[in-house]
Amino acid sequence: MDADLELRPMDPDQADELYALVDANRERLREWLPWLGADYSLDVMRQYTWDRAADNRKRNSFTATIWLRGRICGAISLHQINQRNRSSSIGYWLSKEAEGQGVMVRVCGKLLDLAFGEYGLHRIEIRCATGNLRSKAIPRRLGFTEEGLLRQAEWLHGRWVDLRVFAMLSGEWRAAGPV
Ligand SMILES: CC(C)(COP(=O)(O)OP(=O)(O)OC[C@H]1O[C@@H](n2cnc3c(N)ncnc32)[C@H](O)[C@@H]1OP(=O)(O)O)[C@@H](O)C(=O)NCCC(=O)NCCS
Repeated sequence: MDADLELRPMDPDQADELYALVDANRERLREWLPWLGADYSLDVMRQYTWDRAADNRKRNSFTATIWLRGRICGAISLHQINQRNRSSSIGYWLSKEAEGQGVMVRVCGKLLDLAFGEYGLHRIEIRCATGNLRSKAIPRRLGFTEEGLLRQAEWLHGRWVDLRVFAMLSGEWRAAGPV
């Protein structure tokens, strides 16, 4: 990944700064992130960072903050790993300032290297609401296969949304080479 872009494993020390970023982007992010309820608070964020740091240590999942030119600009997760099937899924968000610079494609590429390399996984999904055009562009750009549609699969602040399922297999990622 480029020198200006860095992933740092989730740490409770990052909670205040991460919360400030979420709060500043609250309205924009709420459009697509179901966990960002109106009552999402600093306490919830602190607990979240503790839980994800513990999961990182146990290698149940991997969550990191994204840093662009030395400033925190978002987060990305390899969600709960299914050990039997060696599979997981990826979720992500960025601040308004960091959008539109290809940041998420590069960061996702880094996470896929980790998932298929160090974590030895076989299959990674990305699920995007059908209306989330920016998000759907990420797996497409990375060469994921579009596998199908999950109807009304997510409750998004008062409405059901359909999810488009994209997936990448380890052999496909290795064959594709660096992003
Ligand atoms: C989704 C998100 C991470 C995208 O990251 P990003 O680094 O800003 O991505 P980019 O701006 O480089 O754009 C990605 C692609 O979307 C395309 N795009 C940008 N705006 C678009 C729009 N309004 N309509 C359609 N496509 C658009 C870009 O052209 C690019 O495609 P390309 O690589 O084929 O050129 C970011 O927008 C975000 O955090 N959104 C809110 C949270 C969210 O939706 N998370 C995902 C939940 S599944």
